[in-house]
Amino acid sequence: MIEQINEASLDKAVRLLRSGGLVAFPTETVYGLGADACNDAAVAAIFTAKGRPTFNPLIVHVASLQAAQQFASFSPLAQRLAHAFWPGSLTLVLPLKPQNGLSDKVTAGLDSVALRVPNHQSALTLLERFGGGLAAPSANPSGKLSPTEADHVEEGLGQKVDLILDGGDCAVGVESTIIKVEDEKLYLLRSGGIPVEAINEVTGGKVIVGQDEKSLKVPQSPGQLTSHYAPNAKLRLNATGAKQGEMFLAFGAGGPEAIPGLNLSPVGDLYEAAANLYAYLHILDDTGVTVINVMAIPLEGVGIAINDRLKRAAAPR
Ligand code: TXA
Ligand code: MG
Repeated sequence: MIEQINEASLDKAVRLLRSGGLVAFPTETVYGLGADACNDAAVAAIFTAKGRPTFNPLIVHVASLQAAQQFASFSPLAQRLAHAFWPGSLTLVLPLKPQNGLSDKVTAGLDSVALRVPNHQSALTLLERFGGGLAAPSANPSGKLSPTEADHVEEGLGQKVDLILDGGDCAVGVESTIIKVEDEKLYLLRSGGIPVEAINEVTGGKVIVGQDEKSLKVPQSPGQLTSHYAPNAKLRLNATGAKQGEMFLAFGAGGPEAIPGLNLSPVGDLYEAAANLYAYLHILDDTGVTVINVMAIPLEGVGIAINDRLKRAAAPR
């Protein structure tokens, strides 16, 4: 059930979460499917609702760095990143603290935990009032397109969620950047809303990026399965045209005019394109078209995350 965010729906959300329920809520990246991160049964319900493999750990959302420090040890470098980017679209994977209270299912038995403070006022209010950590993967069936509107959550998960809080469209539109911190080393596990360049600026170029994921020297993020974020339609990347009956997803000026479709950002702004990415893929996919042709998107800044999601959406399944 979708409810606009207000005092009454926030109260209801907190009550549901405290009793082990599932509440979908907006963040600046995508909608999350939230549950009490310390409640085993509630966390198990997330995996069931999404059809998510249990080896794939979840991100714990908290209201502040102080709240995050209950669950994980922050090296000086990790603290520096938290100060620079929280609240924001950066998830830090850090060593678990002993007696952290989290359900083992959140971490899938790893000795690390993924944490983030979302940059979204309603999400922060919810977290503050709930008063603990909320495990929250993107609120979509496993492997499908991520949700950036409350309606996307309803479409994908519907009755499996106790409440969907509607906070409008997500401003960033792609998931958080995930960085694993190992003492003074930083490994990029997933590109996302915060460009690696920005993290390198703050850390003096410390981010280690695998040329491809297999060459990463650390266990790659278990959730980074090759096929992911997939629409029903087949995606054709770096397209310059389309056949009769297909659709086109353009970027910048110069998209084909005669072919039906949408433009992620007519002015060629990568942030605008990221914000529109999932919503436009949802719209084109819902037409029932079998092929969506996507124009090339520059591989820089947040364009790296856009290209990553498109590549996975286009991967054979
Ligand atoms: O923007 C986001 O991050 C959204 C919103 C809702 O916050 N959440 C999100 O969650 O994208 P999800 O579950 O779809 O992706 C979480 C990713 C997965 O790839 C998972 O493998 C990784 O985080 N992850 C979680 N814990 C980890 C850990 N301890 N070590 C390595 N990777 C981890
Ligand atoms: Mg996801």
